[in-house]
Amino acid sequence: MITYDEKEQIFHLSNKKISYLIQIEAGGIPAHLYFGKAIRHYHNHFRYPRTDRSFSPNPPLSTDRQFSFDTVMQEFPGNPGDYRTLSYELLHESGSKVSDFRYYGYKIEEGKPLLSGLPATYVKEPADAQTLTITLKDQLYDLYLDLSYTIFADQSVVARSNQLRNESNELVYISKLASLTLDFSSQALDLIHLHGTWSKERMLERERITAGIKLLDSKRGSSSHHQNPFAALAAPETTEKSGEVYGFSLVYSGNHQITVERDPYEQTRLIMGMNPHHFSWKLNRGEVFQSPEAIMVYSDQGLNGMSKSFHHLFQNHLVRGRYQYEERPILANNWEATFFDFNEEKVLAIAEEARNLGAELFVLDDGWYGHRDNDDSSLGDWVEYKKKLPEGLLGLSNKIHDMGMQFGLWVEPEMISEDSELFRQHPDWALHIPGRGKTIGRGQFVLDFSRKDVRDNIYQQLKQIFNKVPLEYVKWDMNRNMTEVYSVLLSAEQQGEVAHRYILGLYEFLEQLTTEFPDILFESCSGGGGRFDPGMLYYMPQVWASDNTDAVSRMQIQYSTSLVYPISTIGAHVAAVPNHQTGRITSLETRGNVAMSGVFGYELDLTHLSAEEKEVMKEQVHFYKEHRQLIQFGDYYRLKSPFDGNHASWMFVDSEKSHALVFYSRMMAEASSAFHVLKLTGLDSTKEYEVEGQVIGGDELMNIGMYIDTEMWGDYASKMIALKAVE
Ligand code: DGJ
Repeated sequence: MITYDEKEQIFHLSNKKISYLIQIEAGGIPAHLYFGKAIRHYHNHFRYPRTDRSFSPNPPLSTDRQFSFDTVMQEFPGNPGDYRTLSYELLHESGSKVSDFRYYGYKIEEGKPLLSGLPATYVKEPADAQTLTITLKDQLYDLYLDLSYTIFADQSVVARSNQLRNESNELVYISKLASLTLDFSSQALDLIHLHGTWSKERMLERERITAGIKLLDSKRGSSSHHQNPFAALAAPETTEKSGEVYGFSLVYSGNHQITVERDPYEQTRLIMGMNPHHFSWKLNRGEVFQSPEAIMVYSDQGLNGMSKSFHHLFQNHLVRGRYQYEERPILANNWEATFFDFNEEKVLAIAEEARNLGAELFVLDDGWYGHRDNDDSSLGDWVEYKKKLPEGLLGLSNKIHDMGMQFGLWVEPEMISEDSELFRQHPDWALHIPGRGKTIGRGQFVLDFSRKDVRDNIYQQLKQIFNKVPLEYVKWDMNRNMTEVYSVLLSAEQQGEVAHRYILGLYEFLEQLTTEFPDILFESCSGGGGRFDPGMLYYMPQVWASDNTDAVSRMQIQYSTSLVYPISTIGAHVAAVPNHQTGRITSLETRGNVAMSGVFGYELDLTHLSAEEKEVMKEQVHFYKEHRQLIQFGDYYRLKSPFDGNHASWMFVDSEKSHALVFYSRMMAEASSAFHVLKLTGLDSTKEYEVEGQVIGGDELMNIGMYIDTEMWGDYASKMIALKAVE
């Protein structure tokens, strides 16, 4: 898959789908030639053109005035003379921030090495991937940059990461080390990204790239509700179904930064990696610093093609453990049913109703520990609140299991309340700067997870519970962002490391916990989808997508989340109306149809249902069980965007193309409305499908389409249509 043309110094990474071309250019710079559709054989015709560009200087000792680092398309720019955004920045002992890395050598290996201490995509067989490492060396110091590229045998994906090795006699401080850089030659491009806030995560934005720099980032200590670590660059004509698009995703859960710069020659440079904001890493002699991994996807089949590649990669090469391919249970969670106001009797009553509906797992949410009656106390004290649970978690778990249901528990291990035994004993365990006040968020502080002693204490507390109480599921929450990012155990010159050390500590914790408890299904959560990123998916196969449970908001949130993340990772629940976040009233059918488009559950007081509602829910549970394999693990296609108009639609197709499920919703009802046609996708054009009692060809459904909303009534109406191929 990877070849090296020694004479022309060209690396060609390719499989049947994509090619990636790198050439070692004048002065030993790895120049970027191409990333896109597979090329059979590259004939070396695309070397960067030579021309004398005024005010773009030439490298030291160069006699060629027509070549400048300022203009050439590069793989990992950082040398003097390139005035664009750079991939790295180092501070040397001399006080200089100038580095000058040049080509030193390369290595090609079978498979894909693990990244020490960091989540990353993996392959099970060495034949499934090949990895190229290009090594650069600084001209003055024995500092080495290892640029790593993995191409997977059967996917339109390249995974990249970088290492800095200090083999010099000097200290070096890293202020920036990106995970990937990709330069594009002059062409019109749209930037697609997912921004938002709490309860409004991953809002889809598409904008034309114009001259200058666009910066997307998180400085919050987590990947955040505010900017998902994802971006795509697409040709302006690219749609869901057709056209070229390049997708980028960072396998990291902390501060990140994406910059997109269009230079004066209309070239575009995208850089993705950890956020350099407040970051600095002291690299001693003999030490290595590893960047997180970034994923690049190429699709010439539009955004659906890009998503398919991300879904396939994350499903098969990122998510791990027992639940990677196992159908996820239908759960009932008590949070929006009771908030903090519950006792054993109340939750057992909800669990019993859930069981009667056919749900499989009951989850006890926040409020079961310390003396937690509101969000002001007890985080850090992971012992049962006997006032609410007189027989403890063990008693409750036994009763839930006796009902024939699984039992799950909510925890928020990274946090500490001022009103907690833990804080009284260890006030210095919260992130803080001695002498300064502590910024408070949701009445709580963030534990210093960069410290091993802190992590060990929390680990032991959790372990005790997980060993004592039979548990099939754990929801891991994280309800505020970091401030006063300072660790009292680290020296002054290492304080820029704390945010990253926190994430490394979190990853170490999760690796240990998920290894020790391999049968627990973990769901990641951060006030909903505040840490919905590939880093967390490496440890936890599903994520509570948003605290916004309103079906209409969820259509947008789930639609845009699907751009990157597989459906098996997207937690979605039916909640009460009027909705707690928006006050909106939608029908139980629509709430069900939207929640059934993800990993399904209920989150409302089931003891207050009418007989009619119970019947509808029983049908939903039955329907979901029947189609769960298709929904969670089938191919997913977006058909109509809820960001673009009055409709939302998507569909699921199984690998044999013999079963499909179409979701459609019309937002606002209209009198005398047009008849809308929905064209399906992903079906087998040679098969006939049974659709609502009629037999229709796959070619007809995809090309002619069908009238979709003729019998819809009222606002936010929706339907699910099942398709089955006829033999
Ligand atoms: C935020 C989560 O997203 C909710 O589902 C719930 O678990 C609360 N935290 C509990 O505090």
